[in-house]
Amino acid sequence: MTAVIPPGEPAGTVPDVLHPARLGPVRLRNRIIKAATFEGVTPDALVTDALIEYHRRPAAGGVAMTTVAYCAVAPEGRTQRAQLWMRPEALPGLRRLTAAVHETGAAVALQLGHAGPVANARSNQLPALSPMGGFNPVSLRRDRAATPEDLDRVIRAHATAAQLAVDAQADAVELHLGHNYLASAFLSPRLNRRTDAFGGSLPHRARLALGLARAVREQVGDRIAITAKLNMADGVRGGLSLDDSLQVARWLQEDGSVDALTLTAGSSLLNPMYLFRGEAPLKEFAAQFPLPQRLGLRTLGRSFLRAYPYEPLYLLEQARRFRAALTLPLILLGGVTDRAGMDRAMAEGFAFVAMARALLREPDLPRRIAQDPATRSLCIHCNRCMPTIYTGTRCPLIDIP
Ligand SMILES: Cc1cc2nc3c(=O)[nH]c(=O)nc-3n(C[C@H](O)[C@H](O)[C@H](O)COP(=O)(O)O)c2cc1C
Ligand code: SF4
Repeated sequence: MTAVIPPGEPAGTVPDVLHPARLGPVRLRNRIIKAATFEGVTPDALVTDALIEYHRRPAAGGVAMTTVAYCAVAPEGRTQRAQLWMRPEALPGLRRLTAAVHETGAAVALQLGHAGPVANARSNQLPALSPMGGFNPVSLRRDRAATPEDLDRVIRAHATAAQLAVDAQADAVELHLGHNYLASAFLSPRLNRRTDAFGGSLPHRARLALGLARAVREQVGDRIAITAKLNMADGVRGGLSLDDSLQVARWLQEDGSVDALTLTAGSSLLNPMYLFRGEAPLKEFAAQFPLPQRLGLRTLGRSFLRAYPYEPLYLLEQARRFRAALTLPLILLGGVTDRAGMDRAMAEGFAFVAMARALLREPDLPRRIAQDPATRSLCIHCNRCMPTIYTGTRCPLIDIP
């Protein structure tokens, strides 16, 4: 396959993952991005020293850009109450964070989104929004069906949050269009059976995702880079299909609203392990929930947390379809852990790679890979870091000698 050479590389060469590259208006020192991993260290929904340290570590460890996970654009769009949401009060802390990361030479992206049906209404003490309303298995509460006015507000809230990201001296925002969070729930024909302008045909289901991306671009222009994390497929029967997602990606490309796409898959609501592959940490997960959910998880957990075999670059096959159909720079995610995987991604035309778990295990992995290309990751994709999002996200294996 012919490599699509991202902007800035001489034609005819496969880019070196360790060389600088442009992401929209931003110059990154290499092509390795720390993917968002919700940090669980913001008890007052504001930046803490622990959050800054969480991002300083992979930045000092050699990534080009670290992604602050999930900064909600509205209070009801948080997956839990102790989650950062974008408001003027958050600005001083965000400025401290960007300054600390910039000191290492790395850039900062803020992941912006609205969790929709993945929001925990019980914890937020606010009803979650979803396309249809109805009982929510995550919060054991009823979701509220989002009205067109709600959706207009959410679209505007993305633009306001992006402006705050500019004010905080962030280098990029990543718009969350995956995992059946609000925009992704609207894309899903399974979750969105509305008959108004936000449901039914694909252009209607994509109205929220495309609208919020346009609003963000209108707000920030090219002052910072804009990426979107888009589900290639939901991995559930009746969910977003790869062909539909490809069309959404084409529209995003035509709109010029994003500088790159991070390609993801799966549903935090219906099939979380499709995102991750590897072992399902059911026992550790159940332990984090109060009794009714714990019992529910223990009985129904195997179907909810259905395990999928892990393999390196496990999203590559689907992502190739996007690479073949689009000119937009693409970020390959999912099982990137070593130099061989990074080189393969570059050879196949991806502009960047994003890594999540391997950097939780070893935040300095990029630096060590740069020193020795044969460096192997110690991450064993056991997924025991997943339930730590409730108590301060970490790799529990780090503590095991
Ligand atoms: C503990 C943990 C928390 C995560 N939190 C987020 C999140 O807040 N937002 C998001 O888009 N993805 C989140 N993810 C998914 C990762 O960004 C990534 O898509 C996934 O782990 C696959 O990449 P990997 O194989 O490099 O780990 C999380 C993953 C883990 C392990
Ligand atoms: S717990 Fe540690 S070793 Fe296991 S998947 Fe998470 S980062 Fe990797």
